[in-house]
Amino acid sequence: MTQQLSFSYEEWPDDAALSEQDRTLLEEARRVTELAYAPYSNFWVGAAARLVSGSLVVGTNQENASYPVGICAERVLLGHAAVRFPNDPIETIAISYHPKDRSSQIPLYPCGMCRQALLEQEIRFQRPMRLILSGMEGKVHVIESAQSLLPFAFTGQGLRS
Ligand code: THU
Repeated sequence: MTQQLSFSYEEWPDDAALSEQDRTLLEEARRVTELAYAPYSNFWVGAAARLVSGSLVVGTNQENASYPVGICAERVLLGHAAVRFPNDPIETIAISYHPKDRSSQIPLYPCGMCRQALLEQEIRFQRPMRLILSGMEGKVHVIESAQSLLPFAFTGQGLRS
């Protein structure tokens, strides 16, 4: 029997439609792109998370001369949150980026590896994580759960006896 999967997301022309709290978070993600270490790709990514307690955590991509050693902003953020606030789940993550010396208008979607890492956090804390995705200006997408970005994910079920 044929099955179908779909999910809903919000799309806004710019950040004016966001709540003040969400707009502030996106502004922070845009601001921290400046803290990226991306001398190889020149693609500067910033992520900012608001935790359930209200605390703020950020991450940026950190590259390496041995290219595969580099790590995305999203996973730097997850590690940062896990050690600073171990029992405080992430409520919302905003992600932005820009190529060196240029702006960006199209939302950035987390890579496959980061989707897997984001999903694990949702499972671990039994709580969906909202994602706010946008370039340095223009269109904004809001997704209610990282899980919708990775259907049929490997969740580790069956790993443990
Ligand atoms: N990158 C991120 O930090 N997050 C993403 O969602 C996509 C890609 C980084 C990895 C690398 O440093 C650069 O962007 C180009 O791929």
